[in-house]
Amino acid sequence: SKLEMFVDELLDMPRIPGFDIKNGVPVSKTLKIGMYQKKWKFHRDLPPTRVFAYGTTRSKATVPGPTIEALQNIETLVTWQNHLPSKHILPWDPTIPTATPLHKGVPTVVHLHGGIDEPQSDGNSNSWFTSGFKEMGPTWTKKTYRYHNFQQPGNLWYHDHAMGLTRVNLLAGLIGAYIIRDRSIETPLGLPHGDDFDRPLVIFDRSFLIDGSLYMNNTGNNPSIHPQWQPEYFGDVIIVNGKAWPRMTVHRRKYRFRIINASNARFFRFFLTNGMGFKIIGSDSAYLAKSILKKKLLLAPSEIVDVVFDFSKSTSDSVILANDAAYPYPSGDPTDEINGKVMKFVIIGEPEVDTWQVPAELVKYPAPAVSSASTTRYITMYEYTSNIDEPTHLYINGLSYEKPATEMPKAGSTEIWNVINLTEDNHPLHIHLGLFVVLGQTELVNVDLFRDCMMKMNDAIKCHLSQYTRGKKIAVPTHERGWKNVFKMRPGCLTRILIRFSYIHSNASYPFDATAEPGYVYHCHILDHEDNVMMRPLKIIS
Ligand code: C2O
Ligand code: CU
Repeated sequence: SKLEMFVDELLDMPRIPGFDIKNGVPVSKTLKIGMYQKKWKFHRDLPPTRVFAYGTTRSKATVPGPTIEALQNIETLVTWQNHLPSKHILPWDPTIPTATPLHKGVPTVVHLHGGIDEPQSDGNSNSWFTSGFKEMGPTWTKKTYRYHNFQQPGNLWYHDHAMGLTRVNLLAGLIGAYIIRDRSIETPLGLPHGDDFDRPLVIFDRSFLIDGSLYMNNTGNNPSIHPQWQPEYFGDVIIVNGKAWPRMTVHRRKYRFRIINASNARFFRFFLTNGMGFKIIGSDSAYLAKSILKKKLLLAPSEIVDVVFDFSKSTSDSVILANDAAYPYPSGDPTDEINGKVMKFVIIGEPEVDTWQVPAELVKYPAPAVSSASTTRYITMYEYTSNIDEPTHLYINGLSYEKPATEMPKAGSTEIWNVINLTEDNHPLHIHLGLFVVLGQTELVNVDLFRDCMMKMNDAIKCHLSQYTRGKKIAVPTHERGWKNVFKMRPGCLTRILIRFSYIHSNASYPFDATAEPGYVYHCHILDHEDNVMMRPLKIIS
């Protein structure tokens, strides 16, 4: 039986301020947010689903969790508390490097994606903890995480990051939005604001059994090697803010949407079915320098886009937000009538005069000169297959996560990373702490020859990379030319990025010791890849 689309209203997740007001001034605040097992109703006609949910209490916990609204330069502290039962609700795989408590319990650890924060609060995969802090992982240091919020205003999200369990912990529901606002910069922009007109949209795909439970394949693609692990999870139901294909009633005026792709592996190429365009004002955690008008937008897992839809421009009374990205992206199956639909906007009333605008010029954070980069690195993505030609695991630089850090940038420095993708998938590479601009993307020629050499030597220089970089130059989309923390590494391409290990809005140095243990990580944000183990440590040195 098929679920009827557009019957549930779009939810706005509970909003929690990340600050207090004392004598009229905002001050730092400590929040307690728990992780609870509970039932969540994803659709009118679907029985309630057992999930893991973030919330201030069990009854208030939601999927996705509450939206934390922080203020620039006012610290938010969060004690993340695990109240999960002893057993996971989804199948996981002990043969990939996995957090394993001695006693029962579901290991969890929270990462604020896009945050520029101290290593102890960054949610290192081995800093996991189980219910009631009964057991802690080897790099665990503290219960209460400190989010500085000193960085530029923008969109972040928090989610689980436990070793080998990230894909199942997020699939179970451990996801939430986090916004940093800076009134002095944002108020003059005059963008749509207020809870009705400025809305996070957290989007992911899931599959369900008839009884409402989440469905995840419990047999691996190489069952004799990894009994459960599959290279990419895809679900056939598209969920926005915790409801399957919801609908939202809107007026004929402007709305701002902060769209987070919280899927494990699904890319979305969004478009509006009435042909309407939209203006992009931010990508990942930063504003763009200029707003960009687009009709289509490709968003990889973990990427964030900040857009304004102007429904006064609509000639129809309803419009569907749709998706035509193949899965896996780019060379998998095309979307269909079901997974190609995301949500519906029902447009009511006459055109309204709103005083909001989308300025052409937004917020400029100039990039440093390429010549200021102190180090150039080569970062290579590999996929390994079994004798039945099925992927067994994916590594960065041919190294598992356990091998000592090889990327050790200096705090305050700028680096160039040449990312070489020798696989056939597009991998959204995410770097903690640093922000980067994309310098260019070039198709490699004779990639098979180059891969053969790299598989043996694992050294881009010795394998004469420069002889293979004569292929087509791929233009970086205009709305992805700002500061990013994730970028889509196209298959068979060399992508050059300029990373800054400092702030983009200020010359201040980090107000914390970025060199402290347990350091940071960088990884592919297809969660099934990240878990097995397309992730490497990132160690900052002084
Ligand atoms: Cu969104 Cu390391 O994660
Ligand atoms: Cu990947």
